[in-house]
Amino acid sequence: MLRGPVFAGTYCHAGDPAGAAYTYGRYANPTWSAYEAALGELEGGPSLVFASGMAAVAAVLCTTLRPHDVVVLPSDGYYAARVLAEGYLTQMGVQVRQASTAGEAQRHLLDGARLLWLESPTNPRLDVCDLRGLTDAAHDAGALVAVDNTTATATVRGQRPLALGADFSVSSDTKAMTGHADLLLGHVAVADPDLLAPLAAWRTQVGAIVGPMETWLAHRSLATLDVRLQRQCSSALVVAAALRAHPSVQACRYPGLPDDPAHAQASRQMSLYGQVVSFTLPDRDTADRWLAALRLVVPATSFGGVHSTAERRARWGGDDVHPGFIRLSVGLEDPQDLLDDLTRTL
Ligand SMILES: Cc1ncc(COP(=O)(O)O)c(C=O)c1O
Repeated sequence: MLRGPVFAGTYCHAGDPAGAAYTYGRYANPTWSAYEAALGELEGGPSLVFASGMAAVAAVLCTTLRPHDVVVLPSDGYYAARVLAEGYLTQMGVQVRQASTAGEAQRHLLDGARLLWLESPTNPRLDVCDLRGLTDAAHDAGALVAVDNTTATATVRGQRPLALGADFSVSSDTKAMTGHADLLLGHVAVADPDLLAPLAAWRTQVGAIVGPMETWLAHRSLATLDVRLQRQCSSALVVAAALRAHPSVQACRYPGLPDDPAHAQASRQMSLYGQVVSFTLPDRDTADRWLAALRLVVPATSFGGVHSTAERRARWGGDDVHPGFIRLSVGLEDPQDLLDDLTRTL
C-alpha cells in the first residue's frame, strides 16, 4: 500500500550524518525512495527521480562529459536536449556530433566518443533505431550509451533500454509514465549501480529535486500505467490506420502500423508502440483550422496524458518538420469518438 507523501525540509537527526538515510530534504526523501524503488522494478536497474525530464537529461550529460569529450546525439531527437548540448556543452569544450535516427547514421560517428545518446522512437517524427545494435557498436568503441525512452515508456510490456544493453535509461515522467498532465518529473535508471552515485551527487548539488507531493502523485499513477498504456496504444493504432487511409492526410507515422518504415525494428524492441501518432496536413492554415475545430482532442503541447492532445509542431521552431506537421497524443477516450472528432473536419 502506498504511504502518504513525506513533507520534510529536514529530518530529526543527530550525530554523524555518514550512513544516515534521511538528513536534509535536498539529499533524500522517503517518498522519492518509494517511487524510485518502483521505477527500479520497471526499468530493471536502480533509478533516481529528478525535477523534470530535462533535469534528468542534464544530469546524465553533465556527469558523464568533460572538456574535449565527444557526445553523439540524434539530430532529430527532442529539441531541448539538442539546445542544451549545442548551447552549454560546446561552451564547456565538449564536441557535439549529430546524425539522424533513421538509417542509424550515429553508428558512423562513434570513433573517440565518450557518450552515445539515442532516442527511439524520436519525438516528434517517430523514427526508430536498433537500440541493441547501436549500443553494442558504442560499447565496442568505448562509449557509454544513454537512451531517452520518453516516447516509448519503460514498462514490462514497453521498451526497457537497460535490457537492450544501455547504460542509462532516461525519461520525462511528465508524459505517459504519470499520464495526467498535472506534474513535471523525470528519472534516470542505470545498468551499473556505480553510475548512480555521480548522478545522486549532481542532483543534490544543483538542487534538481522534485517535491514530495508530485512524487507521490507520480507513484500513485503507476497503479494504472499498464492499463493506460494498453488502451492508449491500441487506440493509437486504430486512429493511425484511419488517418493513414484518409485522403487529406499525408505521411502518417506510427511504429505500430505494419507498413510503417519503423515497424520491423520497433517490433524487435518494443511490444507497445506508444500513444503518439504523427501526420502532415497540406499547410499551416489547414492545420491550424483543423486544430481549432477539434472538440474532444485538446490543442496542447506534450503527450502521454489520459486526454488526447494535438499540436502543430512547427509552431515552436526547433524541429525539422513541415508547417502542417501534427503531433497527436492519443488518450483514453472511446476510439470511435476520437476518430469522429479527428476526421469530422478533415
Ligand atoms: C523525448 C523527450 N525527452 C525529454 C523531455 C523533457 O521532459 P520535461 O518536459 O519533463 O522536462 C521531453 C519533453 O517533451 C521529451 O519529449
